Amino acid sequence: MLSSVLSPSMMCVDYARFAETLRTFEASGVELLHVDVMDGVFVKNYTLGTDFCRNLRKMTSIPLDLHLMITEPEWKIGWFDVQPGEWVSVHAEATDHLQRALAAVASAGGVPVCALNPATPLSVLDYVLDDIGAVLLMTVNPGFAGQKLIPATLGKIADCRRYLDERGREDIRIEVDGNVSFENAAKMRSAGADAFVAGSSSVFSGPDIAGNIERLRRCAE
Ligand code: DX5
Ligand code: ZN
Repeated sequence: MLSSVLSPSMMCVDYARFAETLRTFEASGVELLHVDVMDGVFVKNYTLGTDFCRNLRKMTSIPLDLHLMITEPEWKIGWFDVQPGEWVSVHAEATDHLQRALAAVASAGGVPVCALNPATPLSVLDYVLDDIGAVLLMTVNPGFAGQKLIPATLGKIADCRRYLDERGREDIRIEVDGNVSFENAAKMRSAGADAFVAGSSSVFSGPDIAGNIERLRRCAE
């Protein structure tokens, strides 16, 4: 089983403590920074964008984990100035050209991640297994922080791990996003998840960010 990585959700950071929070992430060895990009069309909300990514890269060397909740991402990857080693998730539901979108991430030097909404079947991965480094399973419907876990997604994590392993792809990671609380993280880990988006349910659930990270690591190891 792959060791767990944490990806705190930057849409949940208290802006009054922004720089201080980044220093805490660095000191705690946080592996990725999750950046939710929403276009008001694919999901009914607007969040972070290209300028935010550019400025964030100036403030820290932790690689970004871009979660693109935008339509037709295949034409927009170039807008983000993807850096080597950054993860970039594109939603299977947001494009008729999934392979093209994933290939665009790879040619920009990023790790291509295929994101799936809770109701999207795993079979959409059938012909893109050579194009991805990870699968992002949404455990809530995307668009807003602070939602409740959809219970069926726990079974989906286990199904996804089995699906990948049966195809000899033990190397492909499973990232989970949505209500990754301390309690849910342990269940998600047992089901086979190894990358955890940490939002209002865990890392930002109280003022002791370093303590929250440490606690989430214990739950997710
Ligand atoms: C949207 C976001 C949210 C959120 C995750 O994709 O990534 O899911 O910040 O954290 P929770 O659900 O704990 O607020
Ligand atoms: Zn996200």
